[in-house]
Amino acid sequence: MLRLRTLKDVDAAEKRVLVRVDFNVPLQGGTITDDGRIRAALPTIQHLLGQRALVVLMSHLGRPKGKVVPELRMDPVARRLSELLDQPVQKLDDCVGPDVEKAVRAAGPGDVILLENLRFHAGEQQNDPEFAQALARLGDLYVNDAFGTAHRKHASTYGVARLLPAVAGFLVQKEVERLSRLREDPERPYYAIVGGAKLSDKIKVLRDLLPRVDGFLLGGGIAFTLLKAQGYAVGRSLVDAHLLPDAEAFLKEAESQGKVVELPRDVVVAPELVPNAPTQVVPVEEIPEDRMGLDIGPATVAAFQARVEEAKSLLWAGPLGAFETPPFHEGTRRVAEAIARSRAFSVIGGGDTAAALKALGIALPENVHVSTGGGAALEFVSGKSLPGLEPLLQNQ
Ligand code: 3PG
Repeated sequence: MLRLRTLKDVDAAEKRVLVRVDFNVPLQGGTITDDGRIRAALPTIQHLLGQRALVVLMSHLGRPKGKVVPELRMDPVARRLSELLDQPVQKLDDCVGPDVEKAVRAAGPGDVILLENLRFHAGEQQNDPEFAQALARLGDLYVNDAFGTAHRKHASTYGVARLLPAVAGFLVQKEVERLSRLREDPERPYYAIVGGAKLSDKIKVLRDLLPRVDGFLLGGGIAFTLLKAQGYAVGRSLVDAHLLPDAEAFLKEAESQGKVVELPRDVVVAPELVPNAPTQVVPVEEIPEDRMGLDIGPATVAAFQARVEEAKSLLWAGPLGAFETPPFHEGTRRVAEAIARSRAFSVIGGGDTAAALKALGIALPENVHVSTGGGAALEFVSGKSLPGLEPLLQNQ
């Protein structure tokens, strides 16, 4: 397992500790719809406050592309964090510069400051050395607890970690410990359940996971491009036409490596994606021309459940149908219930999958790890080296 320097290796007492967190939470009209990522960072923040550190938190929110986007200011996050910590959180209007440095100088041990959205500055994503220097001026010590952003080589995840003593926070430590079970020596059989709307978002993951897993259970929008690549007529279902050659190549490679590939055997179709649309279950050979596939059907659910039952390790990324729109949540719900019953060690990655489970109210046992990372978790279990973790390694 990767050996990281951690909070236990440093004394933060009376120090200014610059903490990179991933507070990139879903917002709807200024309201946080899921505060899971804020809660997940609390153990690190509380530990530092317990040591009487001055905690300076920094995060990105959304993708403002180097400009100030008022709806992506960190104010709602500061309010929620303040409630969860039960203490004031001072939200600043920028993340670098003389005013920010002044505010940090004026604060003391036990205080919490939250900087403004890092991505309001282009230097963040460019890993600009001057921007990293400006951030480094705000701390004596750097803690990275932003597992969800560990796959990004940005100033706040990489550049600044080279300028200050750097350690991993408790969340990063926990994610690395748990996800390493899939990365290093997963108990077999090990299946990846992959869904989601677009194959363009997932094709790389499928390719990267291919040599590591024993098979794939594939649903959601991505399945229709794969079915079409196999020669099925998929009606008006979502298809990434430009990815048909990649889909074909992936299926061929999986076959030549002897991997299990479970594609939908039957699907729930409707004329359009609206709540309570008239539905029909059809075998994949019979998808009508004027219908779109919006969920996996009962025969597919049964096949997936059987694989989940035999699995010793599972990775799940992406809902298996249009779960936000009933009744197209049913396939996702039934597979989630099978995972909740299974004894396999399971990792659920990606905000949309975690959100689906939350919306469906499915309680998950200890052997299921819901990662705070989407892309980061998938890259990690695929064996990639994550730039945000590199500076935290013990031998660095
Ligand atoms: C995420 O939500 O996956 C992380 O916060 C990273 O966000 P990004 O994909 O915009 O870099």
